[in-house]
Amino acid sequence: MKHTDIKKLFTNSAEYVEKSVIVCGWVRTFRDSKTISFVELNDGTSFKNLQLIIDKDKNIDTKNLVAGTSLKVEGLLVESEKNGVELQVANLEVLGECPAEYPLQKKRHTLEFLREIPHLRIRTRYFQAVFTVRDQLAQAIHKYFHLNGYKYLHAPIITASDCEGAGEMFRVTTQDWNANYKTEQEYYADDFFGAKAGLSVSCQLEGEMAAMGLGRIYTFGPTFRAEHSNTTKHLAEFWHVEPEVCFADINDIIEIGEEFIKFIIKDCLENCKDELAFLNQYGEQGLLEKLEHVVNSDFAKVDYTDAVEILKKSGKQFVYPVEWGDDLQTEHEKYLTDEYFKKPTFVVNYPAHIKSFYMKQNPDGKTVAATDLLVPGIGEIIGCSEREADLDKLLEAMKKRNMPTEAYEDYLATRRFGSVPHSGFGLGFDRMLMYIAGVQNIRDTLMFPRTVGKI
Ligand code: 4AD
Ligand code: MG
Repeated sequence: MKHTDIKKLFTNSAEYVEKSVIVCGWVRTFRDSKTISFVELNDGTSFKNLQLIIDKDKNIDTKNLVAGTSLKVEGLLVESEKNGVELQVANLEVLGECPAEYPLQKKRHTLEFLREIPHLRIRTRYFQAVFTVRDQLAQAIHKYFHLNGYKYLHAPIITASDCEGAGEMFRVTTQDWNANYKTEQEYYADDFFGAKAGLSVSCQLEGEMAAMGLGRIYTFGPTFRAEHSNTTKHLAEFWHVEPEVCFADINDIIEIGEEFIKFIIKDCLENCKDELAFLNQYGEQGLLEKLEHVVNSDFAKVDYTDAVEILKKSGKQFVYPVEWGDDLQTEHEKYLTDEYFKKPTFVVNYPAHIKSFYMKQNPDGKTVAATDLLVPGIGEIIGCSEREADLDKLLEAMKKRNMPTEAYEDYLATRRFGSVPHSGFGLGFDRMLMYIAGVQNIRDTLMFPRTVGKI
């Protein structure tokens, strides 16, 4: 269908003004006066609507131009002081009518209501803004890694190894339950892969192996967690960005993480001006100021041990009192980022026993060279560490956790053959989008979010 994107009419207006153009789109609003009708048309390419001017003298049928109707329109593009450009309609064709049961009649609906119609909420201004930023954020991530010499790696989604060792894997099977099997082993041996298989929680282990040949890699795809966490920041299926860098220690990867986060925020600020201005006005107040501040100031960095002291001295009544050795709860993270540091904060050197097996053991014998990046309003967005490069220490950590080392032979080979210091992190992409777009609930960052009890 020959037509011009509405976006081009705004960004390249000199090329189109005073010429006849054809545009397509959906009616956002319709307004009538004595002599003229006004339609706000949006085709998804531009956040700004194109205003259509329909002169009543022209005998164009406007009675069905309700919100949601799709149109093909031809007319003269003219300059407008208020709108930049607008279209004086000569011909109008209704592509699809929109009957009265269309649920998006009102100007503003609650996000809760819109969650019940995920297939239609994408047509609202709010979700157009969020999903445009989502796209830009993904592009910015690829841009950062490409510019910095990382290779984009595709790791398997179906896997036999639980990287985080937290037992949160979804199983992948083609077998029905059959009571004739005597042991689990026998049962899995008959399954599609001849072994117990699941959906990957993280591509890190494959990423580490690849980095040993390619130097620097990143993966970016969906990963899966069968956590029964029904919170505003947990998904069963989330998008995960995982770089892995050879010849980098914990301080190097922290520097990379900070540079990376600033780069992707800056890229969105530059390329999603209209969308972020809208989200600043109708979503999170002070969003733009927050993002500018993050880009232009240093992140905080605090040792886990010091963070525990800060929490103890805070005078706050936490639901979970904190002691050295405990994992930080959301309320603790919130205090550190929202009240104490008031900016993104790396908490470094966690106790070994609350973290995963692969993290580099510090000389103190108690902590590991691991860091979480916490941000105000959300909490953890990055889980990061230097990896244990020493085979014996790694084996010891696995045995402590009762892990079957024979299942990790390929991974252990990276330490056997030319092991090097290396580090990496995992960024929760959907949480990053929450932070940039000021989205309060992770269910509003994906078209069809998957959460416990809901598919
Ligand atoms: O901290 P996590 O579990 O770290 C790893 O998986 C490492 N193997 C990553 C690596 O070093 N390559 O997860 C990393 C990030 C978290 O900080 C969080 O932002 C996000 O993934 N995440 C989730 N996001 C949405 N829903 C969930 N259920 C998430 N679980 C983790
Ligand atoms: Mg984590």
